[in-house]
Amino acid sequence: MTLAGTAPARLRLGVNIDHVATVRNARGGDHPDPVRAAEIVAAVGGDGITAHLREDRRHIRDEDIARIQACTDLPLNFEMAATEEMVAFALRHRPHAACIVPERREERTTEGGLDAAGQHNRLAPIVARLADAGIRVSLFIAPEPRQIEAAMQLRAPVVELHTGEYAHAEGEARAHELRRIADMAALAARNGIEPHAGHGLTYDNVQPIAAIPQLAELNIGHYLIGEAIFTGLGPAVLKMRELMDAAR
Ligand code: PXP
Repeated sequence: MTLAGTAPARLRLGVNIDHVATVRNARGGDHPDPVRAAEIVAAVGGDGITAHLREDRRHIRDEDIARIQACTDLPLNFEMAATEEMVAFALRHRPHAACIVPERREERTTEGGLDAAGQHNRLAPIVARLADAGIRVSLFIAPEPRQIEAAMQLRAPVVELHTGEYAHAEGEARAHELRRIADMAALAARNGIEPHAGHGLTYDNVQPIAAIPQLAELNIGHYLIGEAIFTGLGPAVLKMRELMDAAR
């Protein structure tokens, strides 16, 4: 699909390396090291590293963040819950970006978007403190108009649209989800917010998302780390990159 002229220069690929740490933690040692994954992503031209320091530290741990920041020049997108602990951590480590995500201890992964609309008063001081520290704040939200409007009120420069519903749907339901994401990417961009997207993206479902012209960045983790078992991380990232470029 040719969308030249409307698309941002290049759709960035941020690679979420959490699940390298999941495998490491399964045995409690140092291997495989997410730092090595970050180095490989940098070596093959990935545009950023994403890591989520969860409250329960089930994958990425505190000390990983500084090590990841030190090992490459790639921007770090630090995924965090809207808690005082995580705000303090972000202010100490000053990642390039902080993506505020909802977090429930019992969930397997980040299951839904942040309720930016319903939590304005709680989020406003957090967004302001991070922004004052020069951290680019992103809100991980469902592709809904009220959440985009809430992001505008919170003055978030970036939203990441949750693609999980799209990834899990089939047929007409998937087409519907795709339209919602495309419409919300356009609404965000019209209002000066840079739209990103992520969650559940694979080689099979990434291209319709990558073709949405306003999207500036995709963040992809679990599938790439899974593919890396079979092909190596570098080739997996390069294949995703090729599919994204072909869709643009
Ligand atoms: N973006 C955000 C905000 C996320 O929380 C996650 C999952 O941690 C991802 C992207 C990546 O999702 P997946 O691992 O399904 O590719």
